[in-house]
Amino acid sequence: MTERISLTRYLVEQQRVDGRIPPQLRLLLEVVARACKRIALAVNKGDLGEVMGTAGTENVQGEVQKKLDIIANEVLIEANEWGGHLAAMASEEMDGIYVVPNRFPQGEYLLMFDPLDGSSNIDVNVSIGTIFSVLRKHHDDPNTAEPVAEADFLQPGHQQVAAGYCIYGPQTTLVLTVGDGVAMFTLDREQGSFVLTRENIRIPEDTKEFAINMSNMRHWDEPVKRYIQECLAGKEGPRGKDFNMRWIASMVADVHRILMRGGIFMYPWDKREPNKPGKLRLMYEANPMGWLVEQAGGAATNGKQRILDIQPTQLHERVSVILGSKNEVERVTSYHSGI
Ligand code: AHG
Ligand code: MN
Ligand code: MN
Repeated sequence: MTERISLTRYLVEQQRVDGRIPPQLRLLLEVVARACKRIALAVNKGDLGEVMGTAGTENVQGEVQKKLDIIANEVLIEANEWGGHLAAMASEEMDGIYVVPNRFPQGEYLLMFDPLDGSSNIDVNVSIGTIFSVLRKHHDDPNTAEPVAEADFLQPGHQQVAAGYCIYGPQTTLVLTVGDGVAMFTLDREQGSFVLTRENIRIPEDTKEFAINMSNMRHWDEPVKRYIQECLAGKEGPRGKDFNMRWIASMVADVHRILMRGGIFMYPWDKREPNKPGKLRLMYEANPMGWLVEQAGGAATNGKQRILDIQPTQLHERVSVILGSKNEVERVTSYHSGI
């Protein structure tokens, strides 16, 4: 019988290897996984539960909140606030940071999340997910007694200590990195636990598959137009090969496919809202996904620089995103510098 390795065992073993993850971080990741299990249950209920449709409210970014956006946000907060591992949390669905209340001990980590990614797919039974990113409070000076503030979150993505997502699809799969490659855990519904099912995920460096919302083509900048036009030209064009296209409209699902079989994903800046750098959020979408992709041998840029090197200035900052198979990401990025 092949040995089954639970998420708990995997994390304990990571803790043992050179203390790669300290006990507080191990607890944090277990708690996030437990919260994802609860979110998966709510997602699975669909019309049988009070979970579908809009909540009648808007988030700080002016987006209509779905009931599940709010449920998932509450599940993550309730699960994480009392364990003593966190100082504060930040979420797509909350304007400011959520500092761990005084009645609980404060830990040294900061947790950021997109509680429910792909909200437009909730009501149509298409894969959605939860994305998370973990930083250390006061990265530069872990011993400072300063109270936690929003500024503590504004660290570039290369300072993340853990990142991942949970996809609620035909299977519920938790995908994780702590800086030592990417591992995948499938939820065993009978046992109620995540089981390690893939390790050392590698994204092929070349691909014939791109993911972009083509309906925005007329609004894109020239480098992105050029890249996609060359893909569309297929065998007869400059690339000399036919490309396939996918667009799920859940970043989690598109990135998951790329981790499994390669591809390039783009949500570039466009002329509809020229003052916004892009649609996706840097801190809890692009950074965790960018790190996962890099850990699997891929690349992630905003067209000009590595996503993980961007110095954030705001919690809900947006960014242009190009990520996936290394050679394709490098090609699009080079088109931005006029090469
Ligand atoms: P969210 O549901 O958290 O707001 O994120 C949705 C994002 C991302 O998951 C997806 O790739 C993109 O928005 C889809 O945007 P379009 O509807 O513009 O294609
Ligand atoms: Mn999202
Ligand atoms: Mn969301």
